[in-house]
Amino acid sequence: MKLTATQNRFLEEWIAFLKIPSVSADPTHKKDVQTAAHWVHDTLQKAGCQSSEIIQTPGHPIVYGEYLENPEYPTVLVYGHYDVQPPDPLELWDSPPFEPVIKKTPLHPQGAVFARGACDDKGQMFMHIKAFELMLEKAPLACNVKFMIEGEEEVGSDNLEDFVKSNKEKLQCDIILISDTGMLAQDQPSITTGLRGLSYMEVCVTGPNRDLHSGLYGGSVQNPINVLCEMISQLRDDNKKILIPGFYDKVLELSESERKEMAKIPLDLDAFKNSIGLDAVAGEEGFSTEERRSIRPTLDVNGIWGGYIGEGAKTVIPSKAHAKISMRLVPNQNWEEISELFTSYFKSIAPAGVKVDVTTHHGGYPYVTPSDTIGYQAAHQAYLETFGIAPVPKRGGGSIPIVPMFENELGVKSILMGFGLDSDAIHSPNEHYGLFNFFKGIETIPRFYEHYIRLWKEKQLV
Ligand code: BES
Ligand code: MN
Ligand code: MN
Repeated sequence: MKLTATQNRFLEEWIAFLKIPSVSADPTHKKDVQTAAHWVHDTLQKAGCQSSEIIQTPGHPIVYGEYLENPEYPTVLVYGHYDVQPPDPLELWDSPPFEPVIKKTPLHPQGAVFARGACDDKGQMFMHIKAFELMLEKAPLACNVKFMIEGEEEVGSDNLEDFVKSNKEKLQCDIILISDTGMLAQDQPSITTGLRGLSYMEVCVTGPNRDLHSGLYGGSVQNPINVLCEMISQLRDDNKKILIPGFYDKVLELSESERKEMAKIPLDLDAFKNSIGLDAVAGEEGFSTEERRSIRPTLDVNGIWGGYIGEGAKTVIPSKAHAKISMRLVPNQNWEEISELFTSYFKSIAPAGVKVDVTTHHGGYPYVTPSDTIGYQAAHQAYLETFGIAPVPKRGGGSIPIVPMFENELGVKSILMGFGLDSDAIHSPNEHYGLFNFFKGIETIPRFYEHYIRLWKEKQLV
């Protein structure tokens, strides 16, 4: 791919950004997260924001920038996050996570940047700043733009919620624009019309008051790890239905016609399996793979530990066993309610001889957006023009809890214009983002503005 001078500059800036290890979950990176916030702040300023600020919070800062052209114009609020997931396990990376390299892959013959955050969400968020810069170079915009870029998305956006609740006036807007999701393929763009909610729990099973010799005590007392495994196995049945009473009560089932519409989405099952090294898929009985990973709720153990895990063998019955368990939720499940249902069910299945503690980490509501809005139409038109292919609507399986929160607090819908691919390995070792996707994004975003402004004006006239 022959890059123009401007594209080269954008690429260099993006790489500099990726070198800052802004891992929000890790307190040892607190300074780096601040550095990344300053970097975003300076970049917004240089791109053409008239004012910008770094808003400190009890956690990591929020970066806010404004371009207010005319109160009569529509206002687009761009959301993104500059924090990234921890890079572990480090030994599985082919190159260090914060030393970006450009490599070609079969899917990315033009090259992709490999680094933590390359796609999620530094790369995708940065496309918006660069698109804004390019638009302003041509002419003043016929809309206002507000950027709100946070540093705590990967740890639950706790402080963003408070910020939004107490700054509703400042954040007033007509549409929220976000690139923090994916699309189906480079030759099949899609627009995300839904996100799953999330309820994230941690459980601890305590048995004896100290670790015991498994010969002296084994067989006569509860082993917390055995118990934890038995309890986890009671969370789902053989058909992968979740056994928590009341769990499905509020699940909005799709109609037959909606399911038929969904079945049209091209998912190559063999390619799907191959891409993750599996010879079989698994999931809830009666649903397709695409349905299982978007419109159905799930329960997964994300981590489990306890006992002896060092070199060699140690014959021990541990005092404690732990697990982190998360549930992906769908409309109209309420994550606080689900967390409570989980807690009471989990405690109810505890056998005598152990104590069970359950804590709720964080959660988020699910989200759906209709496709008959001017925001969706503008996005549709934009992809159609730059890809030459009509984008399809697609419900996503991931969660961005602030999206439903924005809707509740600000009364504004979000347009999820993602340019990532499932194969980008977000949250995994060797995360990457294609140069094609990056520059296509920068090309598509200004078209969104153009069509949104046009449709917004048309709507004012009627
Ligand atoms: N950008 C992702 C969410 C995402 C990715 C949605 C791809 C759809 C497609 C976001 O950064 C993320 O990782 N969210 C977390 C939730 C958060 C509360 C930690 C998730 O989905 O696990
Ligand atoms: Mn993200
Ligand atoms: Mn993420």
